[in-house]
Amino acid sequence: MAPLKAVFLAHTAAPSGAELATLRLVSAMPAGQTAVLYTEDGPMLRLMAARGIETRVVTTSFDSRAMTIDKAGIRSLLVGATGLLRLGWTLGATVRDLEATVLVAGSTKAVLMGAVAARRARVPLVWHVHDRVSRDYFGRVLALVIRVLGWVVARAVIANSGGTLASLYTWRRAAVVAYPGVEFPPDNDTAADESALPREQRPQEQRPAGETIIAVVGRLAPWKGQDLFLRALADVKTLPREVFLVGGTFFDEEPYRAELEVHATALDLPVTFTGHVDDPESYLRHADILVHCSVLPEPFGQVVVEGMRAGCAVIATRPGGPEEIVEPGVNGLLVTAGDRAELTRALDTLIADQELRVKLADAARVRSRDFDVAESGRIVTDLLTGLPGKRWRRG
Ligand code: GLC
Repeated sequence: MAPLKAVFLAHTAAPSGAELATLRLVSAMPAGQTAVLYTEDGPMLRLMAARGIETRVVTTSFDSRAMTIDKAGIRSLLVGATGLLRLGWTLGATVRDLEATVLVAGSTKAVLMGAVAARRARVPLVWHVHDRVSRDYFGRVLALVIRVLGWVVARAVIANSGGTLASLYTWRRAAVVAYPGVEFPPDNDTAADESALPREQRPQEQRPAGETIIAVVGRLAPWKGQDLFLRALADVKTLPREVFLVGGTFFDEEPYRAELEVHATALDLPVTFTGHVDDPESYLRHADILVHCSVLPEPFGQVVVEGMRAGCAVIATRPGGPEEIVEPGVNGLLVTAGDRAELTRALDTLIADQELRVKLADAARVRSRDFDVAESGRIVTDLLTGLPGKRWRRG
C-alpha cells in the first residue's frame, strides 16, 4: 500500500475560516504527506509556504468566484457547475502528478471539481465539510442536492462539528468529527507554563467595568451578525472602553463594512475596525470579552476557542458549533442567535461583573485545551490512511 499522500483542494485562497482551519490541520498532519491545491492565487499560498507545506495553483479561464452557490438560480448554477467540472478534469492531472492517494475537498465547489479530479487521478474523494448543509444557508432544494451529491461522490466525510455532521447523509460512509482546533506549543502544561511566559504574553487580567475591551473577530459578513452586535452594544448600561472589530471582507462584503462603520459612528460607539489580520491572537489577549454573534447557526466557530485560549470571557450564539464548545455559566455565556436584547443582557452581565469574567475566562482556558489541533490531525490522518481501496487500480 502506498504511503498516505493527502491532497487538499480549495476553491479559494483567501484566508477565511475554512482555509485557516485547513492550514492548521495540514500542519498537524505528518510532514511531507500532504499538499494543498488551489484554483486561484491568494494569501493562503504564502501562509502555507511559510510552514513548508507543498502547494499548487491550477487556474483555467473559468472563474469559480463568479458563481455563488448559495441560493443561486438553477441556470447560473448549471453554467457554473459545468465550468467546475471542466476545471476538475484539469485538476485531476495535477492530483495525479502529486501522487495523491486521496483527495480532500474543502467546500461545496471543491466537491464538484474534486469529484472529477479524483476520478481522473483514480483516488478516493473525501469531503471536508465546514458548512452546515441546511436550508438556512442554501435553500431547501439546493441543500438536498448538495447532501445527495456529497453522499454519491465522497467516500468519507470529515465534519467540523457534530452539528455539521448531523446536516449530512452519511449512510454507509466513513464519517468523523474533527474540530478545527487551535495550536498549542508541544508539551505545554497549562498552569505551569503560563506563569513561565513573559508578562506581555500572559493572558490579560480582567479590567473593571468602564475599562473593558471587547473583541469581535471574524470576517465581516451579514450572517456573522456584527450589525446586530453594534445595535446590542448601543443599549448597554456601561459602555466598554474600546471595541475591536477584527476581520476583513473577502467575498464582495465591502458594502457591509461601510454599513457597519456608519452604524458605529451614528451610535457613537468606541469601535475600531482593524481589517483582516493574519493572527488575531494579540487582540484576543488584549481583550476582556470576546463576542461571537452569528445570526445563523455557526458551523463550528474557531474564534470562540481562540478567545477562550487567550483568556477572554466569551459570549457566543446558539444553536450551532459554540454549543459544543461552551458550557454556559461555566466557561462562557451562550445567547440565542439573532436576539439583540439577550445579547445586550449578556454584555451587561459580563461588563458589570469582573469576578464572573475572571471565573469564566479561567475555565475557558482549560476548556480550550480540548480543542488541540494535534488531536484533529490524528483523527484525520487515521481516517485518510484507513480508507479502503485507497488507490484504484490504474487502467
Ligand atoms: C467555516 C465555518 C466556521 C468554522 C470554519 C472552520 O468558516 O463557517 O464555523 O469554524 O469553517 O471549519
